[in-house]
Amino acid sequence: MKGLKDKIVLVTGGAKGLGKAMATRFLQEGATVVIADVDAEASAATVEELGTLGPIEAYQIDLRDADAIEAMVDYVAEKYGRIDIAVNNAGVQIHGWATEFPLEKFDMMLSLNLRAYYLVARAAARYMKKQGGGSIVCISSGNSQRYTTRRSPYNITKAGINGLVGTLAVEWGRFNIRINGVAPGFVDTELFRVGVKNGIIDVDNNMLVVPMKRMLEAEEIANGVAFLASEEASGVTGQVLFIDGGWSRAGLPEKKDM
Ligand SMILES: NC(=O)c1ccc[n+]([C@@H]2O[C@H](COP(=O)([O-])OP(=O)(O)OC[C@H]3O[C@@H](n4cnc5c(N)ncnc54)[C@H](O)[C@@H]3O)[C@@H](O)[C@H]2O)c1
Repeated sequence: MKGLKDKIVLVTGGAKGLGKAMATRFLQEGATVVIADVDAEASAATVEELGTLGPIEAYQIDLRDADAIEAMVDYVAEKYGRIDIAVNNAGVQIHGWATEFPLEKFDMMLSLNLRAYYLVARAAARYMKKQGGGSIVCISSGNSQRYTTRRSPYNITKAGINGLVGTLAVEWGRFNIRINGVAPGFVDTELFRVGVKNGIIDVDNNMLVVPMKRMLEAEEIANGVAFLASEEASGVTGQVLFIDGGWSRAGLPEKKDM
């Protein structure tokens, strides 16, 4: 894909799941990747596994810590001389009815799923502005538009991400900094499996609202991220690309054989 080779890319939550697929894709395109993740063990395993594809390193961070985010972006920009692409991906989904949802968990989710996106984006944008441009991709969710029960903080943070993408695109377009979102549908990652294990997610039930009637592969999400980050999307900013098998367009739940 045009414009990814030799680029310096930061992927938050890159140790596992979708972030790992994105790191893989960027390495395959010839970029240098820093994965920023709280899970040191998983990060080390990912660096070892993906190291054969190209230059990758892990940066351990809890993205709920605002000062740590500033330090991380400074580290990347100083070590590599620039930061071309930042992908805000790390997020958690905690379930519970809104009437009972513990306030400390609500605050935690806001701080990781939304505030960290803002902080990573603006810390990276300071460098991108100086270097003449850059690209930021934020991982939203189908839940930013299709609201499901027992996920109120998740739905709210994901809807917030779509607003963040549009707002910052308008502010930073003049600096040649593009910021876009990718809203995935259902992908079999640890985040998704927790919901299945807790009985909150029933895959067959979910598929009723997915026109393509299948789970998505992490690589399908990574493809969209790579496109938006690349020069192939040089005129695109402020958009959220739904990679969801059509879920966001579905009117009624339908069985496959209807
Ligand atoms: N899997 C899906 O079906 C799906 C659907 C829509 C959106 N998403 C979104 O995709 C993104 C990635 O999710 P995933 O499915 O790959 O989940 P995942 O749980 O497999 O991976 C999340 C990664 O974030 C890291 N992380 C968690 N808390 C952190 C913290 N405080 N600081 C730093 N890193 C932290 C984890 O260690 C992990 O590596 C999330 O934003 C999620 O909301 C996923």
